[in-house]
Amino acid sequence: MWPRGGYPMEALEVSMDSEAKITLILIITCVLVATAGLMFGYDVGNSGGVTSMDDFLEKFFPSVFHRKLMYDNDNGSAYCLFNSETLQVFTSSLYLAGIIATFFASYTTRHLGRKLTMVVAGFFFISGVVLGAAAQNLGMLFTGRIFLGCGVGFANQAVPLFLSEVAPTKIRGGLNILFQLNVTVGILFANLVNYGAAKIHPWGWRLSLGSAGIPAFLLTIGALLVDDTPTSLVERGRIEEGKAVLKKLCGTDNIESELKEIMEATRVAQQVKRPFRELLQRHNRPPLVFAIFLQIFQQLTGINAILFYSPVLFISLGLGNDASLYSAVILGSVNVLSTLVSIYSVDRVGRRLLLLEAGVQMFISLVMITVVLHWHVIDNSEDLSHGTALFVVVMICTYIASFAWSWGPLGWLIPSETFQLETRSAGQSVTVCVNLLSTFSIAQASLSMLCHLQYGIFAFFSGWVVVMTVFVYFFLPETENVPIEEISEKVWKKHWFWKRFIDDDRIPKTSVTSA
Ligand code: BGC
Repeated sequence: MWPRGGYPMEALEVSMDSEAKITLILIITCVLVATAGLMFGYDVGNSGGVTSMDDFLEKFFPSVFHRKLMYDNDNGSAYCLFNSETLQVFTSSLYLAGIIATFFASYTTRHLGRKLTMVVAGFFFISGVVLGAAAQNLGMLFTGRIFLGCGVGFANQAVPLFLSEVAPTKIRGGLNILFQLNVTVGILFANLVNYGAAKIHPWGWRLSLGSAGIPAFLLTIGALLVDDTPTSLVERGRIEEGKAVLKKLCGTDNIESELKEIMEATRVAQQVKRPFRELLQRHNRPPLVFAIFLQIFQQLTGINAILFYSPVLFISLGLGNDASLYSAVILGSVNVLSTLVSIYSVDRVGRRLLLLEAGVQMFISLVMITVVLHWHVIDNSEDLSHGTALFVVVMICTYIASFAWSWGPLGWLIPSETFQLETRSAGQSVTVCVNLLSTFSIAQASLSMLCHLQYGIFAFFSGWVVVMTVFVYFFLPETENVPIEEISEKVWKKHWFWKRFIDDDRIPKTSVTSA
């Protein structure tokens, strides 16, 4: 799911698999994964709830607060309630900071190690949480948010790399969607906290921002407790320490062959001097196109517009403050449960079927919502009737369910399983950057879109769902159960469109273990 940092993972897989045990360090690693995912999810879910709290708006965004008061007094347009550039920047600054931080993080990960980079992420998270929860003015609030973004950038670079270097192959695939599961749990946790915090005046919003301290603290403690990975230690010339950690990891003293493989893998990885340039070669076009397009399309489903602003959206739908957070909790649970469906079915029915089915389901849900809201406008009624509002919530749930078993996890999984070894790390960096950039753009645009397009925002996203589903139908080959090193032969070369990019005489390097 994340940038892998240029290290030949197949080589490590062989070594870790030979005597793979579920050791304590592996359990701690899973906790790390969980807390990094929780932290990311909490940040995603948190801002929508906080920005719909009156006390928060009154303190930091008074013009939005007054508009909301006018609306509450039956005197304004619901769709434009939260249309404020500063409010949008509050939400999206985290992503922008994350994109910039990723570049620094790729340096620290390589030169200072994965462990230290995770510790840095933890401290950024903690500082961000403290500044946000204690904020007295916009400056503190925004700085806190930027720190959280830096935390995301550093964590997203280091945690996955760490995992790829310590996890046995057998559980690496599962970890991929497990991370997404934790993101959804983080979103749900944020929704629950928001629901309770909204009732506490005037400082409920501080509780809401401050609760992110729990996953932030766990991540930091976890990062301080674990050793750096053997690869990272060996790479930085600390061979003896690398050996000691390897012994702990494998649960045995017999690690000579593993160590040799890690040293060989490190040597080969260091030979790939310009992975980003290699990525631009013609034969790497298919996975590169998917890394970019799957991420852009994932965001063009409108998921974050709906998740970020679901509490806001529900107020705009006339559901009232309480009902809105309550509904957001329901959406959060649907998100978590449907991700479990994905974990269960992805290796049974394949990626294409999940994406195609979800395309149809998302399209129907979005069109239904548009139609209902269109009728509502024609009716000229003030608030949605109870039944109609409930119908809209149900449609949003079916939309989120289909996202959560398709584009949510698969937008990450597919790029991670289609790049060749020598470009996988660079390819994953592109994946993460495109994700943050698209998330940022949609976050920035969605409140103005809600204001100007009104319910048309759902029609807008439904149009994109058609485009991406057609794209999947014609261009995305099935990658289920295809070993990575055989992707060129078995997938691209057999595909009606992508075969033109793969020359017979240019067989990509397949395995470093044999190098
Ligand atoms: C996306 C996030 C989104 C989350 C929702 C992830 O796959 O990348 O942008 O917020 O799913 O569950």
